[in-house]
Formats: sequence, C-alpha cells, structure tokens
Amino acid sequence: MPDFNVIVNRKNTSSIKWDYLEQYFGQEDALPMWVADMDFLAPPEVSKAIMERAAHGIFGYTNRPPSYYQAIMDWLAKRHGWDISRDWICDAPGVVPSIALSVNTFTQPNDKILIQSPVYYPFSQVIRSNNRELVDNPLQQVDGCYRMDFDDLESKLASGVRMAILCSPHNPVGRVWLQEELVRFGELCLQNNILIVSDEIWSDIIFSPNIHIPISRLNQDLAANTITCMAPSKTFNLAGLSTSFCVIPNPMLRKRYNTALESYELDLGNVFGITALEAAYANSESWLDELIHYLEMNLEFAQAYISQYLPEVRIIKPEGTYLLWLDFNHVGIKSSQLKKKLLTEGKVAISDGRVFGPGGIGFQRVNLACPRSLLEEGLQRIVQTVTTHRK
Ligand SMILES: Cc1ncc(COP(=O)(O)O)c(C=O)c1O
Repeated sequence: MPDFNVIVNRKNTSSIKWDYLEQYFGQEDALPMWVADMDFLAPPEVSKAIMERAAHGIFGYTNRPPSYYQAIMDWLAKRHGWDISRDWICDAPGVVPSIALSVNTFTQPNDKILIQSPVYYPFSQVIRSNNRELVDNPLQQVDGCYRMDFDDLESKLASGVRMAILCSPHNPVGRVWLQEELVRFGELCLQNNILIVSDEIWSDIIFSPNIHIPISRLNQDLAANTITCMAPSKTFNLAGLSTSFCVIPNPMLRKRYNTALESYELDLGNVFGITALEAAYANSESWLDELIHYLEMNLEFAQAYISQYLPEVRIIKPEGTYLLWLDFNHVGIKSSQLKKKLLTEGKVAISDGRVFGPGGIGFQRVNLACPRSLLEEGLQRIVQTVTTHRK
C-alpha cells in the first residue's frame, strides 16, 4: 500500500516546484504549493520498470512497441468506457506541445481561437505566441459552481472562430463536465464548423460520484471533429518524462497532425517515458485508486480547515484534479497585496488567480497533492497571513 504521508525531499532534483522558487516567485524559502505535480513517489511498478530498463545501459533510438499502444487502449476502455483503435493514437512529447502543434497545423495566423477562462494559462500563451486571436467565453459562477455560458458561446462561435480549446476536466475550477454540457458545447462547435481540441490531461483524477466523459466518445460527429490530448503525467506524477498522446479518430486530421509532428522530428519517444507509460497504465491502477482516496481526504481536510479559520474565503469544491480554487475577494486584502504577503510573510508559494484570466482576480489556486502534514503547514501559513492583514 502506498504511504502518501511520507515526505520525500525534492530539493536539489532540479524540480521546478521546489528548486526554482527564486526564479518564479523571487522567494527561495517558500513552501511550494503551485505548479501541478505531486510530492508523492510515482507508483512502485513504474519506478521498477524504469530501473530495469536503466540497468540495461543502452539508451539508443527507441520506438514505442505494440504493448505501449495496447496499454493506452486498455486504459481508456476500462477507466473511461472509450474503445479506440490503435490507429487513432498519435504520439506527442507533451499536451501543451500537441496543442501548439494543432494550433499551427489547423489554423492560420490571425485566426480566432476560443477558450473558457479562467483556464490553464498556457492556452492563451500558445494562442498569442503563435499570432492567433484569443476569443474568450468566460465561465459563469452560479451558486458557487462554474458553468459554461452557452448564450455567449453561441455568439462567439458564430463570429468566425476556427478552433475551440476545451479543458476537460477544467483547471483551475475543477469542473468535471456533465454529458449535457459536453453535448451542447460539441454541437455548437459542429454547427459552426469549429475544430475542438480537448485537453483531457486531468481525466483520471476524478472524485466520486463524478464521471469523466471524453467528448470524442459521445458520438461519431464529435469523434470526427475532435483532437483529444491525454497523458499519464498528472495521473501518475510523470510530468518530467515528457510523454503524452493524442487520440484523433478522423484520418484526415490525423494525417495532418502526424505530418506536422514528423516535420519537427518530434515523433520519436523518450525511452523512459515509453517504459513508464506502459507500466503505469498496465500495472498501477490500484495505486491510482489509493491516490484518489488520499486526495479526497486532503480536500476534506483543506475544506474543514479553511471553513474554520477563514470563513470569508469561498471554496470552489473541485469535482476532479488536485487543485483547490479559492476566492479571497471578501477578505479585504487587495489581490496584489495578498500575493506579496503570502510569499514574503507567509512563505507559501501558491498560484495567483490572475494568470488564469480576468475571472481569476482575487482567487488563488492551491495544489493539494502533498503529504497531509505539508498541506496543514501550507494552510496554516495562509491562515496566519490573512488573519494578520484582513480588515
Ligand atoms: C489542463 C492542463 N493541460 C496541460 C498541462 C501540461 O501538460 P504537459 O506537461 O504534458 O505539456 C497541464 C499541467 O498542469 C494542465 O493543467
């Protein structure tokens, strides 16, 4: 049984989360609860497979074997009820790179691309850095829960948008979209002839009773119109292995995607990433179930702690992901001040909501994927800082 309470020292491993705080926050000694990786050991089956492969000692050019693709197909069938063919799987060195590749392959400079903010900020970075025009369909908050604004979506999609990037489940607000929401989103895209890029990197970290539905699974028209980006990296804490994949059922889209991938010579894989993906999907399912249980307990702990000590902070309860989206708009501290105080006085590094778009003003995102004692320490620091400065 994995013991997620164990604290593993990640300092001096070139970890972005732990070793680059000075660079990203200007505060080296903060407790990091920001970038989305976990302070937990990867599943033992994954480490064992990597060590066995490392023991061989030769790391030359390596292809992905049939068992690699089979592991993906089996995983999607058993965890998401999605039966896919081997042909539909396209290789990728990461989800953000495959979104960038899709933007470049399927749209032209100045084309409009739609996102739903507040959302994972590389979406807007990729759109802008590739000289495309960002169109925002902001999520709405209804009774403390985020929903898609379909009236706004309908009018924005009809304004010449070429591609829509869906975040499903949604980072940072933690929504696991319902079937009816996905159907409506998908149909509006189909009616307007808009290609969907669905980022489903969080699809495996779902809290009961929510269920992740790959939008492409819903019907043949959506399958033909969607590029689904997935990876084992969030699920099994493998982000440093740069290994992901896309599922593209439409042969024409697939051909164009693969041609672009090959044109950058990005189709070859990383030997340890290949080994790890297979070991994770084929042998680490029970580890994941334990992880989800631990994360649910961390979420409960954080909710109880915040409700007790900072009742004016609104908690947006995530239905999936290990990210907690907190609304500090009613604590009486300006968000620029709050960020500074949390860092310099509280010594805790969390993600300022503003980077996720205008709807993130006054919000902070906390990464819950750490041993409970670290979570408690981080929450204590947040509470201490806010109680010292609130009006
Ligand atoms: C929604 C979303 N997509 C993509 C990524 C990163 O994917 P990759 O590291 O494979 O580029 C993240 C990481 O936090 C994410 O939250």
